[in-house]
Amino acid sequence: MNRIACIGAGYVGGPTMAVIADRCPQYTVTVVDVNADRIAAWNSDRLPIYEPGLEEVVFRRRNRNLFYSTDIPAAVRDADVIFVSVNTPTKTFGAGAGQAADLQYIEKTARSIIEYADSDKIIVEKSTLPVRTAQAMSRILHSNTRGLKFQIISNPEFLAEGTAIADLQNPDRVLIGGMDDTPAGQAAIETVIAIYANWVPRDRIITTNLWSSELTKLVSNALLAQRVSSVNSISALCEKTEADIDEVTRAAGRDSRIGAKFLKAGIGFGGSCFKKDILNLAYLCGYYGLPEVAEYWTQVVRINDYQARRFVGNMLSAMFNTVAGKRIAIFGFAFKADTGDTRESPAIAVCRQLLEERAELAIHDPRALGNARLDLESETGVIDYCEDPYAAAASAHAIAVLTDWMSFRELDYRRIFESMQKPAFIFDGRNLLDSAEMYEIGFNVYPIGRKALTHF
Ligand code: NAD
Ligand code: UGA
Repeated sequence: MNRIACIGAGYVGGPTMAVIADRCPQYTVTVVDVNADRIAAWNSDRLPIYEPGLEEVVFRRRNRNLFYSTDIPAAVRDADVIFVSVNTPTKTFGAGAGQAADLQYIEKTARSIIEYADSDKIIVEKSTLPVRTAQAMSRILHSNTRGLKFQIISNPEFLAEGTAIADLQNPDRVLIGGMDDTPAGQAAIETVIAIYANWVPRDRIITTNLWSSELTKLVSNALLAQRVSSVNSISALCEKTEADIDEVTRAAGRDSRIGAKFLKAGIGFGGSCFKKDILNLAYLCGYYGLPEVAEYWTQVVRINDYQARRFVGNMLSAMFNTVAGKRIAIFGFAFKADTGDTRESPAIAVCRQLLEERAELAIHDPRALGNARLDLESETGVIDYCEDPYAAAASAHAIAVLTDWMSFRELDYRRIFESMQKPAFIFDGRNLLDSAEMYEIGFNVYPIGRKALTHF
């Protein structure tokens, strides 16, 4: 049981398997994908995704016990355990469009497994899936005509981008869901536990039934996103009442029952998963006849959209109700710091709305300029993509900070202020900069959920 394959070499499959190979030198790990360019990048000096610490781990194990390949038949045939880490985006067509998870890639994977397998295998759901997907997966796999037996395990991934390697090396918990009502089911659970037990303390490996495990992943993301939307909704009230959102969350978060983490107000959550997973959760609730529960969770996404709109509304009203023809420097386009990923980044919505208002954008991001270009390629209007933040800010009327890159704190804002049109504005969508210091320099400063500091 020491040959592992992973189908899907994306943000999850690539790093997760690299860490397994690193921590379990006795296993051979092969990551396969239908996307040949992606596999070529995994085999090159320039990996397809940026994560701090990822290169080190991949370069240490690659072509020793870690392989990236397009040979799906061989990987399936040779593996004892197959992780499935393909994408499960929101469905864009047909029943459940805009809400339900699109399971076509999962189904195709299951069909490839039965096409190429010639022995019994353990299949591990690593992708985030609607609760009870394992049942459908089992039916497809057992439709094989060769009498092959498959055990299905749910092992959702909780890594966050930007800290993926640290999260994988030192997880809060590893969740393994399975059916222990047969010896084969029990053995499958033990096999997956044995992989993680190479580096994760046993008390952090949690086992549950399959359905609890599948649902826990959706619920974990929903609870995290709900915290962000809760805080963002209160940031709007703070702006009306001169309460300060950072003071409120600092004080509230000191209650150990509430906890201090994940209470940072901003322009809203982005990333490939929060929105899709909440919409999927809401869809499932509707599907099971629970419309009130669906409505409750949908509101988390609505507040998130509202927060980005509210931010642009604040910009407009501060800048005399027009940004038409005004250059606006966008500091940060990635959905969070330390990643080049822009999927569902709130910066996309903010930039689109500013372009609709005919602002001219000068976008700077340390890692995400390439993705920003792709995200905005169908937009009309003036967009300047700037490697240099000082060039982005030159002759701009305003700076909008949309990503919490620490490097933005290190810039010379006196120099930036001198190069800008006056009055010069900073809209700090991440409460990243020292407002008092920016005000002192001469900026009119608009943080989130805190009093604006203006010179007029
Ligand atoms: P991704 O789009 O980066 O990667 C998925 C890969 O699967 C792609 O490279 C695609 O080519 C490949 N693929 C699709 N169908 C295939 C098939 N039939 N055969 C072989 N390869 C196939 O997606 P991701 O971000 O890695 O997410 C994967 C899953 O993990 C999703 O369900 C997601 O919700 C979940 N997840 C993501 C994160 C994250 O931070 N991105 C964190 C936790 C969980
Ligand atoms: C999130 C979860 O944290 C992971 O546990 C999960 O595995 C992953 O989704 C997934 O399923 O894809 P990720 O989206 O990579 O990870 O990043 P987060 O750190 O959770 O940030 C998500 C968004 O929320 C970012 O846009 C971030 O700026 C925003 N956020 C986060 C806030 O606005 N305030 C906060 O206090 C925290």
